[in-house]
Amino acid sequence: MIEQPCVDLAKAMDILGRYPAEEPSLIQVLQDVQRAYNYLPCDVLVKVADALGVPLAHVFSVSTFYKAFALDPQGDTIVKVCTGTACHIRGAGQLVEELERTLGIKPDQTTDDLKFTVKTVNCVGACAMAPVMIVGEKYWGNAKAARVGKYLGKGSGNDEN
Ligand code: FES
Repeated sequence: MIEQPCVDLAKAMDILGRYPAEEPSLIQVLQDVQRAYNYLPCDVLVKVADALGVPLAHVFSVSTFYKAFALDPQGDTIVKVCTGTACHIRGAGQLVEELERTLGIKPDQTTDDLKFTVKTVNCVGACAMAPVMIVGEKYWGNAKAARVGKYLGKGSGNDEN
């Protein structure tokens, strides 16, 4: 796990200034904080709880409930491997293993340079091109472990997909 860096609270204060200081603003504030920082820094959650008059435990509970929120710093690029049934059968596990080898991290971890975060996800609705790997916004269908470097933009992998 990556240690949380010191964060600039000015962005959080700016976000809080845009919403009524009340509990119903919580989700929208958290969404904006996630966008601004690429995760929900602990110091910011404390500020949010205080500003909206919501117990910190509730803020954490909402933050952990929704998959869209991350409590640890995330990589600039999120790499997702679908491990739904069709993708699992067609080799998603090999993609995950190759990502572990290439980036040195397991699913739900982030590289030390904060470039990549790897996640596994359930069916993304593209079973016909299983297994599927998503790098940022780009979908790679019929993904092959040998091409993982190429998918990551690292220049290895020798096939077109
Ligand atoms: S199981 Fe992977 S896209 Fe459906």
